Amino acid sequence: MNSTIKRIGVLTSGGDAPGMNAAVRAVVRSAAFFSIECIAVYQGYQGLISNNTKQLNARGVNNIINKGGTVLKSARCLEFRTPEGRKKAFETIQKNNIDGLIVIGGDGSFTGAMIFQSEFNIPVIGIPGTIDNDIYGTTHTIGYDTALNTVIEAIDKIRDTAISHNRLFFVEVMGRDAGHIALNTGIGAGAEEILIPEEDMGLDRLLDSLKRSEKSGKSSSIVVIAEGDKTGKNVFEIAEYIEKNLPYYEVRVSVLGHMQRGGSPSCFDRVLASRMGVHAVESIINGKSNVMVGIDDSKMILTPLSQAIKGKSKINKDLIRVSEILTV
Ligand code: F6P
Repeated sequence: MNSTIKRIGVLTSGGDAPGMNAAVRAVVRSAAFFSIECIAVYQGYQGLISNNTKQLNARGVNNIINKGGTVLKSARCLEFRTPEGRKKAFETIQKNNIDGLIVIGGDGSFTGAMIFQSEFNIPVIGIPGTIDNDIYGTTHTIGYDTALNTVIEAIDKIRDTAISHNRLFFVEVMGRDAGHIALNTGIGAGAEEILIPEEDMGLDRLLDSLKRSEKSGKSSSIVVIAEGDKTGKNVFEIAEYIEKNLPYYEVRVSVLGHMQRGGSPSCFDRVLASRMGVHAVESIINGKSNVMVGIDDSKMILTPLSQAIKGKSKINKDLIRVSEILTV
């Protein structure tokens, strides 16, 4: 390939997600394949500001495809939001002769990448890595599938103890702005009700539904709640409200928290990350910039970063209908 790109930088930014390492490996190896040098930037944009960098060759990413977290480390960097911070970051780009940057992260990371690109005209390509699956321009983000499996495994275990004690469990899952994890794991784990940020179910409807299920003979139940659900109440407040109004249920709360972000990536996430890493490097070599790599119907696609940030990843409303039918 004939390209002006001789050296690229790669970083992971924002919340980590299982499969980020597989993406880093794919970027480094694809660069080696196309005879391009690759500079790893550690700790996201913070490392770009402080020149925390190291050149990696194909062997430098051995044995990381199966690892959770990110070997490059990650950070949410406030300094990069300032023009002074971004100026320092560009000095690192110049010092290391980096011709293009690949950013693995979520929408906050892409916003930073877009501003950086517009200020210094450095080509940037985004790879979506977040367990929340809340990015427009891809049906799946790296880490989402693994997180779904982690949550399902956890709720299955909660179900065992819920049945043994005839208890009603409220399980909080991640998803500050998006209900993908809650909706899919709720159906997959057979939850009674699912509360998400996109639709307001209302506490009274939840109450009626739980009353109905008790009357229909259910002695234990699981309700899955996304952390940013639309009632505006947190899982403890919701549990307290229900316990007060449905005294026959013994209520417990389980917040799954950051365990959802860890663990070895699923096969799906490893393959997705590998494909996205290869496509990102090929795209930057071919002169593309300011775009995010995504997957749609098993094909690799590119979406302008501006759209990926602004567009909303929509929940599948049919899943709500399915869940309602199955809680009969
Ligand atoms: O990775 C996305 C996400 O998991 C959100 O669902 C959650 O609100 C947030 O990250 C929490 O991340 P942190 O504790 O790193 O700020």
